[in-house]
Amino acid sequence: MFPTKVKSPHRLLHLKHPFWCPPSLGKAACSRLVLGIETSCDDTGAAVLDETGQILGESLHSQKEVHLRTGGIIPTVAQQLHREHIERVVQQALERSGVEPSRLAAVATTVKPGLALSLAVGLRFSQTFARQHNKSFIPIHHMEAHALTVRMLQPVAFPFLVLLVSGGHSLLAVARGVDDFLLLGHALDEAPGDTLDKVARRLSLIKHPQCSTLSGGQAIELLAKDGDRMRVPFRTPMGQTYDCCFSFAGLRNQINMMIKKKEAEEGIEQGDLLSCVNDIAASTQHTVASHLAKRTHRAILFCKANGLLPSHSPTLVLSGGVASNQYIRKALTIITDTTGLRLLCPPAKFCTDNGVMIAWNGVERLREGKGILPPDVDVSYEPKAQLGVDLTAEVKAAAIKLPSVRMKIPT
Ligand code: KG4
Ligand code: ZN
Repeated sequence: MFPTKVKSPHRLLHLKHPFWCPPSLGKAACSRLVLGIETSCDDTGAAVLDETGQILGESLHSQKEVHLRTGGIIPTVAQQLHREHIERVVQQALERSGVEPSRLAAVATTVKPGLALSLAVGLRFSQTFARQHNKSFIPIHHMEAHALTVRMLQPVAFPFLVLLVSGGHSLLAVARGVDDFLLLGHALDEAPGDTLDKVARRLSLIKHPQCSTLSGGQAIELLAKDGDRMRVPFRTPMGQTYDCCFSFAGLRNQINMMIKKKEAEEGIEQGDLLSCVNDIAASTQHTVASHLAKRTHRAILFCKANGLLPSHSPTLVLSGGVASNQYIRKALTIITDTTGLRLLCPPAKFCTDNGVMIAWNGVERLREGKGILPPDVDVSYEPKAQLGVDLTAEVKAAAIKLPSVRMKIPT
């Protein structure tokens, strides 16, 4: 029923260019160290990893504070900041690793999906670097990297189910191999991190003494701890749509209407802090968690019905920036406990964007000889790029109804 192989441009290129090694160095001198570079959104990251996943050196420059002040990511500003920092970040990762560029086996860089202007900076820098040092180049899919990070930290065999939730994405996929994914569900409008960031902005949480330096998701998580979600309940999205896709725009509309109502009740203007921010944060977080949990529950049942996961130790991997949220992790734990899956979630540092996950994806591809290009091949970035083979129509057609599960999530 499901495709046995994924045809990707990388695979095709791989057939033309098997593992590439500069002839001048000879095979023995080819150390298997990878430099990873990430610039797909608002973090400039670089790291050097060896083939076992040991991090030899890393560096990260976050633009979060700038974008918090401007009220969201302005692509031209993000691009300028990547330009200003990329050379220093890469230098720092290399210096910390003590590895000379000549010892690298390859440079791996995010080329899709992401902000065009941000991707362009990382790609241009990396291709220049790879050519200058005569290194193989490995183009990386940002979501593939999020999905595989867990394998750097512990042994996790394919296939496994993965839920990736970040500021730009929300997706459920079966990871069957390094470059072999079945897409079960994706965001129909905005991503959960984007929703949390926008709600935090609408609530002016930057003015809250505890939240001024936090991302929207972090601020909501912190404030929710002292809130009562039952005081301002929201409807979980897509209750009557029996697939695994996600929608958060309608929820944000519900939240905005509630904020307006509360502002009128409290007699305050937009831009002032509501006294009930904790309750709104708690209910927002709970509804996001509940939506993610329900879609994931259905994905697990779909996988079970179609034999897509192993019967021994079937695993759900949760990653991406929003996966740092402890309440969301607990919601997913309820689902994995109910369905007999093991839940794995990298520590927060590896859930958000960084150079390490890109370098690790490079290592995984290097080990399998997949998508490794010579330094002189021109590569283009792709702002939009699906992960794997799209099975969302099959999932929808299965129309799996969920048994009721009590989402009593401890705070
Ligand atoms: O993966 P990531 O670093 O960048 C993207 O690829 O988008 O994710 C950033 C997103 C932001 O929207 C941020 O608000 C959210 O992750 N985030 C969180 C938490 N920490 C970061 N969302 C909920 N709870 C958190 N603790
Ligand atoms: Zn990301």
